[in-house]
Amino acid sequence: MKTRIDWVRENCLLLRAITQEFAAARPFAGKTIGTGIHLEPKTVALLLTLQSGGARVVSTGNLNSTQPSAVDYLRAEGVTVIGGQTTELSEHRRNLAAVLDHRPDLLLDNGGDLFDLWRERRFPGLLGGTEETTSGRMRLAPLRAELAMPILVINDSPIKQFAENEHAVGQSVLESYLRITNRVTNGQRVTVFGYGACGRGVAANFRAANAKVSVVDRDPVRRLEAHLDGHDTPGRDTALASADLVITVTGARGIIGPADLPLLKDGAILANAGHFPVEIEAEAMASAPAVARRSSFADGVEELELTDGRRIRILAGGHMVNLAGPRPMGNSIESMDLGFALQARCLEAIALGQVAASDCVVPVPRRIDEQVASAYLTMRYP
Ligand SMILES: NC(=O)c1ccc[n+]([C@@H]2O[C@H](COP(=O)([O-])OP(=O)(O)OC[C@H]3O[C@@H](n4cnc5c(N)ncnc54)[C@H](O)[C@@H]3O)[C@@H](O)[C@H]2O)c1
Repeated sequence: MKTRIDWVRENCLLLRAITQEFAAARPFAGKTIGTGIHLEPKTVALLLTLQSGGARVVSTGNLNSTQPSAVDYLRAEGVTVIGGQTTELSEHRRNLAAVLDHRPDLLLDNGGDLFDLWRERRFPGLLGGTEETTSGRMRLAPLRAELAMPILVINDSPIKQFAENEHAVGQSVLESYLRITNRVTNGQRVTVFGYGACGRGVAANFRAANAKVSVVDRDPVRRLEAHLDGHDTPGRDTALASADLVITVTGARGIIGPADLPLLKDGAILANAGHFPVEIEAEAMASAPAVARRSSFADGVEELELTDGRRIRILAGGHMVNLAGPRPMGNSIESMDLGFALQARCLEAIALGQVAASDCVVPVPRRIDEQVASAYLTMRYP
């Protein structure tokens, strides 16, 4: 029987076409690509596409999201995979350092980990690379002078913004909430922290599932947008006090912490969809004096029972909820196929010397966006 990874590879139509093209043109011949990205079925399709272009691919996962079946599949295909699933930051950093020990020519980064670490463990010959996320862009932008090489930020492509961050993250956060908790959404009060592309999609999907959605964003322009989209925009504390479910997706740290425990209502569920597990201070909340007992249900649901009897539930320890729980699937195959086609084309452009060093931590070039958009439409609707 074919596996889910095979299913994903068959449905990544853009990556399939690029794989064929790369196998003939070999844009990465003789080059090593180092990656630190979630290892799951769709990234398998991307890494094998890069390998088909002649690259030696050396990869490790991100915190908490590595899927053993993806690691086994990659290793069987000849990709070097360092480490396995871990929630330990120190182990993760060791794995990232081991990727850099291979002295890659190009980096495919996710969250800025590899480029940041390269500053401490410099080696010559790094041509540049890509950064997948908003959080990574925020981390790397202040380091431009030190990095001084082409780094294209996939997240800043309009395609990634609407196809993945808005539509697909929204859909997969809803799917994950239902899969992990099996709880109703209809009539529930859901508060979304952050109304960027991801938050917009999360809010829209929960509203489509008949929840009553409120939005909290520190930016009044984003709050206005949420208001005009039909969501409530109460003050932060009011929103927290009435929420059955709180979802953070801001990219910022300390959005919900121990000081919020008195506000939350009995049974409130907290989940994070932002990249780093820092938006909900899960550990600090669990060890707050107001917590009388701490227990775990299956599938990554932790319950904090407070001294006054209220129970607060935190999903996946505050790690990205849409890559957690039983049989996590992440974003839709088509949305990832689009984002990863951008990745493949950007790395190709850098490998071929088509991007200037001054294009350091900048969005995907418009011509690559157009190329990928045209390919998707032509392929599916010839
Ligand atoms: N779960 C996934 O699959 C997935 C996919 C893509 C991106 N992400 C992550 O989701 C996060 C958000 O991404 P985005 O593209 O929507 O970012 P964005 O920058 O477009 O939006 C973030 C929003 O959060 C708001 N915000 C920041 N700090 C806040 C605070 N303290 N209180 C309230 N609002 C605050 C900002 O004003 C902004 O409107 C990032 O961490 C990103 O890496 C997750």
